[in-house]
Amino acid sequence: MVAGGVPARVDLKSAGADFWKRYHAYRALRHEESRPNDPLRPADIEEMRLKRDSPFDIEYRYEIATDGVLLSWFSGSTSKPGTAGHESNKHLFWSDIYVRPDHRRQGIASTWLPLLLELMDAHGCSVVGIGTEEVSGHAFLRWLGAEPKLSGAENRLKLADVNWGMVQRWIDEGSQRSPQTRLEVYDGHLPEAMWADFAPQLSSLLNTIPFENLDIGEIVVTPDHMRDWYARLDLGDERQHTVLTREPDGVISAITDTTWAPHRASIIEQRFTGVRPDARGRGLGKWIKATMLAHLHELYPDAKWVATENAGSNAPMLAINKKLGYKEYRASTEYQIGRDDLAARVKGLPARKS
Ligand SMILES: CC(C)(COP(=O)(O)OP(=O)(O)OC[C@H]1O[C@@H](n2cnc3c(N)ncnc32)[C@H](O)[C@@H]1OP(=O)(O)O)[C@@H](O)C(=O)NCCC(=O)NCCS
Repeated sequence: MVAGGVPARVDLKSAGADFWKRYHAYRALRHEESRPNDPLRPADIEEMRLKRDSPFDIEYRYEIATDGVLLSWFSGSTSKPGTAGHESNKHLFWSDIYVRPDHRRQGIASTWLPLLLELMDAHGCSVVGIGTEEVSGHAFLRWLGAEPKLSGAENRLKLADVNWGMVQRWIDEGSQRSPQTRLEVYDGHLPEAMWADFAPQLSSLLNTIPFENLDIGEIVVTPDHMRDWYARLDLGDERQHTVLTREPDGVISAITDTTWAPHRASIIEQRFTGVRPDARGRGLGKWIKATMLAHLHELYPDAKWVATENAGSNAPMLAINKKLGYKEYRASTEYQIGRDDLAARVKGLPARKS
């Protein structure tokens, strides 16, 4: 067992002030390691988010703490039976492990592995996915025997450097090249009357994202997911903006969405952008992204950056982003390992430590 600390499951709903104190200290330390120049989400918003159960996933959180200090954090999740998309996602477990920098290389992360295996077996999961942006994370995951499956990066656009003339050109060309296509801009939640039509069209676009070799199930967004997502956004006063194009037959041919929040006023998050495969090559991607950018520049004149995540292999998206001026900020990799390979590593643990 780890000197001075025992793994303990955390019940976020009943956790007391002592837990939250050490949790926020851990969060600040982790933030300092990965994004020291970014605003940290306020404690009250973080607590509200964590206390809110996901209707779609079974979630686990554990800590190792000693003398009021959280030394290590372990979280895991898997799809809830009966939810949309469960059948193609039920074999997957997703996990995250963190050890305080001053307690690394003492075998603490390894002590989570038997628990990880137990949880995977409890839910019949055959593959676990763990992502990292840190050198230490890569080293640990390679030692574990996990394989890199998806490489990507957070890319950032400095708004002060944007060529607004080019942005306006992209907007003009968009409507000129597709005169029958209608552009729609939504600030805040999409009207509920739209959800039933929008959700399956968004799902089909999301399923065109390249995930390289990552084992993932179908992405299914339903109106229930949208309701939950909006409730979650509202907790932190996050404002979503959506720009889409619609063809004369009503089909949505392209979607892009962003979020902004007062507690991170300097950074706009550029989330998904997708163009239907049968509508590609008409400049719709440039049209919606440029429209969004010009719109947000007007709404949030004090924002400094737009941040977005992209797969390294997503050539069309990266090409548009590069032209706009996005530059790589933090590279990341998703690893996966099969249940039996993990079990073999777990079996080796006591011998390794004796
Ligand atoms: C990744 C992380 C959880 C590892 O925690 P840890 O307690 O130091 O890991 P362990 O001591 O159990 O390491 C097990 C083995 O992994 C390998 N390893 C771990 N960190 C390593 C590093 N920085 N360099 C080289 N090898 C490393 C070693 O083979 C190690 O065994 P050894 O020390 O006997 O040689 C920790 O470094 C961390 O919190 N990193 C940032 C968060 C992160 O990236 N998390 C996601 C990935 S899990």
